[in-house]
Amino acid sequence: MSDPSDPPNSDLPVDWAQHYADGDTPWDHGVEHPELAARLGAGELAVPAPGARALVPGCGRGHDALALARIGWKVTALDQVAPLEEIVNSKLHPLGGEYQLGDALAWTSASGEPEMDLVFDHTFLCAIDPEQRPRFADLVLRNLRQGGQLVCLLYPVGKLLEAGGPPHSLDAEQVGALFGDALELVEHSPAVHCIEEREHGERWGRFVRR
Ligand SMILES: C[S@@+](CC[C@H](N)C(=O)[O-])C[C@H]1O[C@@H](n2cnc3c(N)ncnc32)[C@H](O)[C@@H]1O
Repeated sequence: MSDPSDPPNSDLPVDWAQHYADGDTPWDHGVEHPELAARLGAGELAVPAPGARALVPGCGRGHDALALARIGWKVTALDQVAPLEEIVNSKLHPLGGEYQLGDALAWTSASGEPEMDLVFDHTFLCAIDPEQRPRFADLVLRNLRQGGQLVCLLYPVGKLLEAGGPPHSLDAEQVGALFGDALELVEHSPAVHCIEEREHGERWGRFVRR
């Protein structure tokens, strides 16, 4: 998955670990997404209660997860790349969060109960094969409590699904279709603070679990 200028699309599975080993991670801008940073700075996504939990699947080097942890979320960050575990945990543990290694789509809390108040997606849902998207919906519905939020930094908006990926086309309509009535779209707006190099649109979509 490339950014800027996404690579020729391929149907081959992506070797994410190799991308990190090669330092070929153009989606990673070294900090949290600027839209997330601006919104957190404006007081959005405030922690609803002490100990409220956030899940960040496909967290990569954890920039977004760390930004959420810094304002007080108890963050569980998930990725399948082993060398990221130490890198992310060295910064996340002091903030009360944890990186867990494995298939994010299969993750369930230790209690088996929906304990998350927030699920934050940024270039994870667009990175997985679209056929796997129902598993993302299962992940969210297994773990997000009633009234909890799914926030998606939607990208690449406007790209055709047939154009392949990753990144595969993603927009609020596609996310909404995954969840049916289980989630309500409560906010949908263009990202004001975009990653300029990205050649497709970015939007902010916020859904609440009914
Ligand atoms: C495009 S990167 C985005 C990383 C991060 N969200 C960011 O913005 O920097 C996609 C990430 O999803 C991870 N990933 C893909 N499929 C996964 C899976 N099934 N379970 C856990 N992580 C996965 C990859 O290892 C990679 O770190």
